[in-house]
Amino acid sequence: MSRFWSEMARRTEPYVPGEQLNRAEIIKLNTNENPYPPAPGVTEAIRSAAEGLRLYPSPTADPLRQAIADAEGLGQENVFTANGSDEVLAFSFMAFFDPGKTIRFPDVTYSFYPVYSNLFGVPFEEVPLRNDFTLDTNAFLGADGGVILPNPNAPTGIYEPLDGIRRILEGNPDRVVIIDEAYIDFAGPSAAALIMEYDNLLVVRTTSKSRSLAGLRVGYALGSAELIEGLVRIKDSFNSYTTDRLAQAGAEAAFRDAGYFEETTAKIIATRGSSAMRLAELGFTVLPSSANFLFCTHPEAEAEQLYTELKSRNILVRHFSKPRIKDYLRITVGTDDEMDKLFGALEEILPN
Ligand SMILES: Cc1ncc(COP(=O)(O)O)c(C=O)c1O
Repeated sequence: MSRFWSEMARRTEPYVPGEQLNRAEIIKLNTNENPYPPAPGVTEAIRSAAEGLRLYPSPTADPLRQAIADAEGLGQENVFTANGSDEVLAFSFMAFFDPGKTIRFPDVTYSFYPVYSNLFGVPFEEVPLRNDFTLDTNAFLGADGGVILPNPNAPTGIYEPLDGIRRILEGNPDRVVIIDEAYIDFAGPSAAALIMEYDNLLVVRTTSKSRSLAGLRVGYALGSAELIEGLVRIKDSFNSYTTDRLAQAGAEAAFRDAGYFEETTAKIIATRGSSAMRLAELGFTVLPSSANFLFCTHPEAEAEQLYTELKSRNILVRHFSKPRIKDYLRITVGTDDEMDKLFGALEEILPN
């Protein structure tokens, strides 16, 4: 604590990102990155955009927004982009949630939400998930300040069908409901299909997971033109150029290659299925995952100790020292080869 820090810097409790140990020998299954490289056209698009680095990027990112709109069957006016979906979420808190009005999110969820709430002075209520970690949608009706939740949820991976999302939207007609769909491409239908029906719905997405672009930092939001305009007002009061030239070009190339996206997503879903079975064979209880990670617990092995043992074998997974989930590990779905190495290590570590 420094006497020079503002009130905001003093009161904030920063988000702690997963470890980024990028040594070649590390098998990185801890931050839900895609194990496959970006679409083949991405590197060339970035190289050619680099020739224009002397100039500022487009503040409106029109070609990228159009590529996203085309992929989603929406208009460009329904799309907003920023520097990672974390930044989209931060702008959304500023644009739609007011200090003094309590928002709701699940008690087990993406840990950035309480951080933004504290940073922006928005009070929050953590709504308990049921014992099986599913969402109790009734507990989200009539929220004073609005609602934010991931679907599929993180770190559980559990997907809430659209009927439940509709119920929450209808139960909060005068408040914005933000559905954070970071993992939706590995799951069932997206709430983006409901945007024309519900003017209070904002869908937030990322290119960090299904598009293999975590290092490029491109997130986006889908919603009514009115909500998108709210986000643009905040962005233009903060930093007009939040997606740089390389990010705009690279992400656009990724969205234009639907075939590669479908192929790599299908591979991850297949590996998720086989890995869930192998975990169960080793005695783990695995939550039903609709994401690119598996959330699991073992009755005879402490999660934190498993995490440490795996790390000593150069395999990184994620453990959260938090109530309700401290006995669980979150394991990103890697390539089949990476998962074979994980299972080899688990067989060594686990009691017979
Ligand atoms: C639920 C959820 N939302 C948002 C994000 C942030 O993604 P981005 O890389 O686009 O900032 C993550 C990243 O892990 C996440 O799990």
